[in-house]
Amino acid sequence: MEQRKLGALQVSAIGYGAMGLSHAYGAPCDEKAFQEVVAANLAAGVTFFDTAEIYGTNDDPHHNERLLGPVLKPHRAQIVLASKFGIEFDLTSPKLPHPLVANADPRKIKSALEGSLKRLHTDYLDLYYQHRHDPKVEPEAVAEVMAGLIKEGKIRAWGVSEAPADYIRRAHAVCPISAVQNRYSMLARQHEALFPLLSELNIGLVAFSPLANGILSGSYDQNSHFDPKYDYRATMPQFQQESYAQNQALFALLSKIAQEHEATMAQLSLAWVMAQAPWIVPIPGSRNLERIKENAGAAQVKLTYAEVQAITDALERLPHSAVYGGAPTKIHAD
Ligand SMILES: NC(=O)c1ccc[n+]([C@@H]2O[C@H](COP(=O)([O-])OP(=O)(O)OC[C@H]3O[C@@H](n4cnc5c(N)ncnc54)[C@H](OP(=O)(O)O)[C@@H]3O)[C@@H](O)[C@H]2O)c1
Repeated sequence: MEQRKLGALQVSAIGYGAMGLSHAYGAPCDEKAFQEVVAANLAAGVTFFDTAEIYGTNDDPHHNERLLGPVLKPHRAQIVLASKFGIEFDLTSPKLPHPLVANADPRKIKSALEGSLKRLHTDYLDLYYQHRHDPKVEPEAVAEVMAGLIKEGKIRAWGVSEAPADYIRRAHAVCPISAVQNRYSMLARQHEALFPLLSELNIGLVAFSPLANGILSGSYDQNSHFDPKYDYRATMPQFQQESYAQNQALFALLSKIAQEHEATMAQLSLAWVMAQAPWIVPIPGSRNLERIKENAGAAQVKLTYAEVQAITDALERLPHSAVYGGAPTKIHAD
């Protein structure tokens, strides 16, 4: 697969987000599923894997790293492995799932990294993100810890997720940031405002939820059911009954352009994300081995400038539903 640059790193142009194997998209997967999913990604040329210390369940808060580690170990030299620190479960809260709180206490970061390295069966991470900024800790203080970890060889590069622009600039001045990981898809474009800054500072964008949690694959309709106990899509706005009708015209157009490329709508959606800049890398997530192959195939879908513009214009013009956690540029009442 074609490679892309994220600051100091080189990664496969499409990565894989492993979160959904442990939470948000159904009951947690077992070891066998992790093995199959990793094998399917590697076979498709996807070598950039994304996890976080908090991808897990109430009973097994580090489920994702714990199951991913042994499976990735034999391939460690060939892969680029990213994990995240900086949010933790508030175990004092009686609410379930426990609410998440930001904690970037520099002493805490080091112990968090040691935990991740142990679970991931490795002695270094290629990319270590601050998952959410902590208002109690200055960006310079976090960046200094990252500089120390890079010097020690414990991490190769660092990044931030969903941090404000001034936080990125200040942190980058102390220790260069390689990647910002933000929600980004056709239906969640609020972070396009950050693109000039990322370009100026040579920082890559890792696009999470690039399929808007799957809706941009066009594979779901009024009959789709999501188990409210394990599947966050049960309450996401884009999977509500009225949203399917709202998205119809836009999705018909996307489907038509996809067919012209002999591609699927998921591939077109990922290709549009990648066409925005050479330093953007989407990390779709799937439990389905065929879909993993399909998503990797998006790297072959090359859109012309006119096609990218036509889709972007349609996103401005046509009605579409809100998406979870995103802010579309325009939501029509009709
Ligand atoms: N930094 C952060 O705060 C943050 C937040 C959220 C996520 N992330 C990272 O980003 C990764 C990706 O996010 P995401 O999982 O929300 O991304 P996504 O790819 O937009 O959504 C995943 C959902 O889409 C479905 N899907 C994927 N490919 C499909 C296809 N070709 N056709 C039909 N359905 C498809 C999957 O269902 P199936 O499994 O049934 O295929 C899954 O339910 C996560 O795994 C995590 O690593 C980071």
